[in-house]
Amino acid sequence: VKIYKVMSCFSQMEELQKENVYIKDAERVEKLLCQLIQDGKSKLQIITDFDMTLSRFSINGKRCATCHNVLENSSLVPESKKQVLDELRDTYYPIEINAKMTIEEKIPFMMEWWTKAQSTIVACNFRREDLTRAVRESNAMLRDGCDWQFSTLHEHKVPMLIFSAGIGDILEEIIKQHSQMYANMRVVSNYMDFNHDGMLVGFKGDLVHTYNKNEGALRNSDYFTTLKDRRNIILMGDSMGDLRMADGVPNMQHILKIGFLNDNIEERLEKYKEAYDIVLVSDSTMDVPNAILKKIL
Ligand code: C5P
Ligand code: MG
Repeated sequence: VKIYKVMSCFSQMEELQKENVYIKDAERVEKLLCQLIQDGKSKLQIITDFDMTLSRFSINGKRCATCHNVLENSSLVPESKKQVLDELRDTYYPIEINAKMTIEEKIPFMMEWWTKAQSTIVACNFRREDLTRAVRESNAMLRDGCDWQFSTLHEHKVPMLIFSAGIGDILEEIIKQHSQMYANMRVVSNYMDFNHDGMLVGFKGDLVHTYNKNEGALRNSDYFTTLKDRRNIILMGDSMGDLRMADGVPNMQHILKIGFLNDNIEERLEKYKEAYDIVLVSDSTMDVPNAILKKIL
């Protein structure tokens, strides 16, 4: 069985033959896949982004909510604050996805966006119990195939790190409403800070934005150390910043990077092909990662 599985790495995976799948270095991906399959699930760990990677980018041409959008669009936010948050997004999102600026040039703008948006959200008097309703009323949803992926990784005891510049409390609620939070999942994100009355008063810990995930990765070196025998990584992201999520993983042997390219596609495709082993353009599913997992597990 093993030999058959190894021989059928790449060319026989119909999910990888689709038109929206871009692989710059097919030989490298073939070798990587064979290696991951050979080493098996005991050597594997998953590191993934949340917004627009696990969660869906759009449905019927309409954008789906990010963690931040769930709060921003909630009925608890007054019109005047909605306007402020919309203006922030119109200013900073084009910078986030700009194909010409470097990551270093983008960082100060991302700091501004996150800080201003967080303080506006905090000024809206959210309560802990409002989150469930805000998520339910939003159009945030998971990519097709996430539910299968989560339960299967759990069943096979493969650890999954969800590393998000979104909002931890919201992403957990999205996962709970559309699938399940499992014991093998660990989340690193911006968590909300509620006072003893359950009122939102701020955000805890160091800010995670799109382009400082390398720092967050180093802060979580304990997590990676406990998984040091799991030397093979599948990394999934939708931003160039997500490539840094595995920085500081000790003993890393093989890393397969899968990138979802959702927006500003023509301008960014070349860069994504350089940086990610497999690029999935305008894909609303987990079909490709799941097909790979099926071979490994
Ligand atoms: O989970 P992930 O790291 O992808 O979360 C970050 C995403 O949240 C960014 O891609 C950004 O576009 C989005 N965001 C937002 N509103 C904010 C800040 C970030 O929608 N105020
Ligand atoms: Mg993302």
